[in-house]
Amino acid sequence: MPDSAHLAARLRTAQPCLWTNPQRQAQPPAVVQALGRGISLQDTHAAAARFARFAGLLAEVFPELAASGGVVESPLLPAAALQPALGMAPGQGRLFIKADHRLPVAGSIKARGGMHEVLEFAEGLALQQGLVAPGGDYRALATPEARAVLGRYQVAVGSTGNLGLSIGVVASALGFQATVHMSADAKEWKKDRLRQRGVQVVEHTGDYERAVAAGRAEAAGNPLCHFVDDEQSVSLLLGYSAAALHLQRQLAEQGIAVDADHPLIVYLPCGVGGAPAGVAFGLRQLLGPHVHCFFAEPVQSPCFLVQMLAGPGEHPSVYDWGLTNRTEADGLAVPRASLLAAGLMQPLLSGVFTVADDTLFTHLVQVLDTLGERIEPSAAAGFSGPAMLAGTPAGQAWLRSSGVGAVLQGATHLVWTTGGLLVPDAQFAGFVQRGRAVQAVPVE
Ligand SMILES: Cc1ncc(COP(=O)(O)O)c(C=O)c1O
Repeated sequence: MPDSAHLAARLRTAQPCLWTNPQRQAQPPAVVQALGRGISLQDTHAAAARFARFAGLLAEVFPELAASGGVVESPLLPAAALQPALGMAPGQGRLFIKADHRLPVAGSIKARGGMHEVLEFAEGLALQQGLVAPGGDYRALATPEARAVLGRYQVAVGSTGNLGLSIGVVASALGFQATVHMSADAKEWKKDRLRQRGVQVVEHTGDYERAVAAGRAEAAGNPLCHFVDDEQSVSLLLGYSAAALHLQRQLAEQGIAVDADHPLIVYLPCGVGGAPAGVAFGLRQLLGPHVHCFFAEPVQSPCFLVQMLAGPGEHPSVYDWGLTNRTEADGLAVPRASLLAAGLMQPLLSGVFTVADDTLFTHLVQVLDTLGERIEPSAAAGFSGPAMLAGTPAGQAWLRSSGVGAVLQGATHLVWTTGGLLVPDAQFAGFVQRGRAVQAVPVE
């Protein structure tokens, strides 16, 4: 069977598979086009500068950020102890995790983008209404007068859960009215947490796409409402991309080189695609040709993979492939990819692979047992990456054609663990129970 037919057969039957990108460019242009707009590394620096301008205010409104001075960042953790469990043989490189599951305030990678977009909206209003001066102290926005002005405005979003948590928590902390449209996949505890903070939660019986569409339609009728559009927002994407600047410093601090002999292979869980595309964009622009980014999706929700396989002008959903979009990885339960993210990734991405739910739970437990870290199922999607490359014909072909195979010993495998901090104990115990009861599904 030709490779493409083999891939399509596995995809359609919800078996783990790997697609590698023939259109990846080693040297991408400095300005990459996305939905008709050019984005460059300058935009990533601008997002990081915005986070820095707001750090003082964030430290004031979120007690959990006092110690970091308002910086919302996560550690880079060595994970050698996990390598045997993942089947990584000696000589196949070193494993690290980028621990976004520990991100404060929102407990997931969505904190980066969500926070950035709410801050950008607040900054525009604050400057326009004279609540702060350019270059001034943004802590002025914590005063009752400033909050009363922002409180006239609404921030709305549609979400499978974690973006809603991020937007809802940050918007309400700044004084905005906040409305979160939740898809049927969203977990109850995420809705409860938002309601406790005064956020209006609108529950939808449909999937993520329907929740976003409902939120978008409602917001269109209200001129004082800013809708955070997870499918199309450049501000969200740039917020995620700022992670690359911090990671670059962490790699340097830990003496991890990224060059021809030491490729960096990054595995990112993917829902609609905005978060992983933002991170991948930042990393490729900043660290160059020897960074390889792979997205990881549930076998029933591979929306980004089906988009990358589609022809020009097509926007397929996973239902078109006979898949259900049902997965315990709630953050990744998305039927159709963001065209913004897909367009941006065409020259930058190395590949996409899929993961069975049982494998997510197995890896979740292995991460707990070997590293003591608590992640949620969505955040476990990247851990199949090294075995996908070394243990499947498609992965081995990619290792040969990319040249990475010849230097695999010097490679750094970086699994981005994207959520988990806020998962309640009872929920987590259920994840662990399932993880101990099941076995990972073989990659081929
Ligand atoms: C824990 C977690 N990881 C990854 C993602 C993927 O982000 P995106 O939907 O932007 O691709 C999400 C999305 O909600 C998430 O909650």
